[in-house]
Amino acid sequence: MINENTRKSILDMLKIENDFLSGEKISSNLMISRVAVWKNISNLVISGYPITAAKRGYILEKDFDLILPYEFSGSIPYHYFKCTDSTMNYAESRLNENMLVAADSQKNGKGRYDRKWFSEEGGLYFTLFIKNLSLPVQKINFLPLLAAYTMVQSIKNIYNITTEIKWPNDIYFKEKKLAGILINSSCCGSIITEIAAGIGININNKVNFSEGVSLSAIKNTKLKRQLLLNDFCSSFMKDIYSIDINKITNFYDKNSFLKNKHVETIDDQNVKISGIAGNMDDHGGLLIKQKNNIIAPVYSCKNMKIIKKDN
Ligand code: BTN
Repeated sequence: MINENTRKSILDMLKIENDFLSGEKISSNLMISRVAVWKNISNLVISGYPITAAKRGYILEKDFDLILPYEFSGSIPYHYFKCTDSTMNYAESRLNENMLVAADSQKNGKGRYDRKWFSEEGGLYFTLFIKNLSLPVQKINFLPLLAAYTMVQSIKNIYNITTEIKWPNDIYFKEKKLAGILINSSCCGSIITEIAAGIGININNKVNFSEGVSLSAIKNTKLKRQLLLNDFCSSFMKDIYSIDINKITNFYDKNSFLKNKHVETIDDQNVKISGIAGNMDDHGGLLIKQKNNIIAPVYSCKNMKIIKKDN
């Protein structure tokens, strides 16, 4: 007998056992044959679980890094892919229910403004699709900020690494990019009704560009992606239905990568804005103090450059 529930039960038994677990014990607990035990375990090994079989039975190495469905602890439907085109494409082609879509790699990972997002194995790539929201459209700028706020907190909770938000969509460690956020939303009149929150984060993958960094490089060890995925999803699902603007704004002001840096950008009206980045305003805009001392908020921009002092 091979089915998902049996495999999950075997896995749960192996997860709590520190020594070898005999095939006989598994077979009597689950009331299945020894052959069925062996078949299910072979299947788990093929999926990637590091299970060793010996005369004494089976043992699972506990420090595995897998985002297979058995590892997801949330209650929304979870769609896992070893490799997919883009988790955004998958989620947005099936708008019928809330879902989490995650992949070990993507062939066509999408970044903001039609940029490509390199998605090699070892990173974490996922889209949370949430419908039946009823958020005032005035909160739209806070959607990426909520995702960034949640991710910074989850990275701290799980790996004890302090990171910063680069307004409005990126997460940085020191001067290097760790994660990017892509939010697509749908509105009905003045109400935001659906969002697809896509996040790509360098965890155990090699980062091939000098401006990027991975969490495993920071910690100098391989990390368990499933812990971060679960922590992020449970917090984000709690916060998304109302979005506490004050909480996010206060957090941003203390954990901003750009604060007090000289920045330059072109806003959506094609106007160049240059000055010192400050806090956020009540609408999620970044306040920039310009040379003439005028403080202007920027709500959306394609590229926020940091101007080094000697430039
Ligand atoms: C950016 O920094 O431009 C945003 C990058 C967002 C990448 C993630 S990876 C998971 C999800 N699927 C995609 O195709 N893109 C987002």
